[in-house]
Amino acid sequence: MNSGEVRKKYLEFFEKRGHKVIPSSSLVPENDPTTLFTGSGMQPLIPYLLGQKHPMGVRLVDSQKSFRAEDIDEVGDNRHTTFFEMLGNWSLGDYFKEKQLPWFFEFLTEELKLDPKKLYVTVFEGDEKNSISKDEESIGIWQRLFKEKGIDAKEGERILTYPARKNWWSRAGVPEAMPAGEPGGPDSEVFYEFSQIEHNPAFGEKCHPNCDCGRFLEIGNSVFMEYKKKDDGSFEKLAQRNVDFGGGLERLTAATLDNPDVFSTDLFSGIIQEMEKLSGKSYHDEKFQKSFRVIADHIRAIVFMIGDGVMPSNTERGYFVRRLIRRAVHHAGIVGLEPGLFSQLAEPVVGIYENAYPELLEQKKNIMESIEKEEEKFRVALGKGRLVSLDQTNFTAKNAFNLYQSHGLPKDVIKDLAKERGFVFDEKGFDEEFKKHQEVSRTSAAGKFKGGLADTKEETVRLHTAHHLLLAALRQVLGDHVHQRGSNITAERLRIDFSHPQKVTPEQLKQVEDLVNEKIKEGLDMLRKEMPKEEALKLGAEMEFGVKYGDIVSVYIAQDEKGNIFSKEFCGGPHVKNTSELGTFSIQKEEAVQAGVRRIRAILSDTKD
Ligand code: SER
Repeated sequence: MNSGEVRKKYLEFFEKRGHKVIPSSSLVPENDPTTLFTGSGMQPLIPYLLGQKHPMGVRLVDSQKSFRAEDIDEVGDNRHTTFFEMLGNWSLGDYFKEKQLPWFFEFLTEELKLDPKKLYVTVFEGDEKNSISKDEESIGIWQRLFKEKGIDAKEGERILTYPARKNWWSRAGVPEAMPAGEPGGPDSEVFYEFSQIEHNPAFGEKCHPNCDCGRFLEIGNSVFMEYKKKDDGSFEKLAQRNVDFGGGLERLTAATLDNPDVFSTDLFSGIIQEMEKLSGKSYHDEKFQKSFRVIADHIRAIVFMIGDGVMPSNTERGYFVRRLIRRAVHHAGIVGLEPGLFSQLAEPVVGIYENAYPELLEQKKNIMESIEKEEEKFRVALGKGRLVSLDQTNFTAKNAFNLYQSHGLPKDVIKDLAKERGFVFDEKGFDEEFKKHQEVSRTSAAGKFKGGLADTKEETVRLHTAHHLLLAALRQVLGDHVHQRGSNITAERLRIDFSHPQKVTPEQLKQVEDLVNEKIKEGLDMLRKEMPKEEALKLGAEMEFGVKYGDIVSVYIAQDEKGNIFSKEFCGGPHVKNTSELGTFSIQKEEAVQAGVRRIRAILSDTKD
């Protein structure tokens, strides 16, 4: 059976049982600031799980494009992928366990014809702390279902119970991690046993469904979403009991083939064959298999991301696309793919998915061109990265991390560079730097950088940069007691409130205005740096009074070509690249706001007139 058949059978199975097929949402979540990417089928459905009426009714079925960045380092084994398609069926306050578990079991055993002896299930064991009891009902249902197939499903053998760490689902994870208002609930997972795989004792003495040795593969998860976290941290029942089922198409297909390698399914075989053709290497050659898998996974994710409008860049989502491309190009080098050929691998991806996702076909040209450009950029960075490492006498974790952060070199590449130069690669130190950086990404992902600009119109952004220059000029002219106490920027003007005990004289205002215009003419670069808060404070970056900042902050620095710094501020941006873009700065008004706080309004006008 190929993936197209599995997808079709699944949708039809649930359609026959009263479900309406809904299309996949974009990988870029709408109105969901909690995550950068859609990572499960339930994310786009949150409002409906919480009680809003869905226009298509109370029974839905879909196949949702999903991306899980957290799995990126696991890619390379036979089952982990960053992008995947999640088959999902939904009861929005309609049926519950009594229908969900029998239906899924029927689908697996009758439609996909999986041998029930190879199926194992897990169930929620209960959580005393949160007064949520063990899921006895599901245990009973599973025992009956297996019995109908002549299997005595004993608890502790075929049915295993686990705490919330394993058998509870919410976007945030375990109950403790959930914010108030978040829905979640116990779940029941089904595992397929690849009995041809010997247990690897490196993963523990005995094998079991949740063992990571690869003998068991999770192929579906029924979440019984009936709880909501309250403001006081306890749980209440939602007004409706929902079912959120999710099963990876890749994995279900692998199970129907009784082949534990998801990369052997038709979802990847076209990509892998193309790679074999272009490189002359074989997927089955152990030396290259990991690289083949990383490339196949990443190119697929890249194609879908760009297809959903996420272009490679240095920030947020675009940064993941950039990272995926760079990592994949590095592995393409290992396999021996000639430079410039990587983008060709997008072709088989589009080919495999063009029926299910016709938007990919429409965008094929754009997708391939973007990948090609990004590969080229990476090669330039790689050249630079080599130079940096050649100059270095001291290859510290910070240096190594800088190669990652500033030049976008993946860890694998940096490791290779270090080896080439005879340096010891401080992996632990690198990982620590990386963790700090991840916090930055998370913080910025959640839009938590304080002091950032909500309106990103070009005029507003220019005034935002002028605002930084103005604060620095005020400090230089009036003294170090000046700090920002408030600000407001529109597309027409900027306004700054700052600490200063008396009226600013007209002479002082003139001096400030001239200084800002001088710095505009000098053409200072506006550089964004992310660093731990302590480091930013040590640097003397200005922070706004009364604003709380996270542990990792973003700082904007205005500096000239020689590296002389004129302004440094805690700030989320955005800014112009260079102050020469600002035009002429003029102060319109200076007044008192309250004792010890003054306010200035200023504008920018085009220099040409
Ligand atoms: N939300 C659950 C999961 O992602 C089931 O769809 O596993």
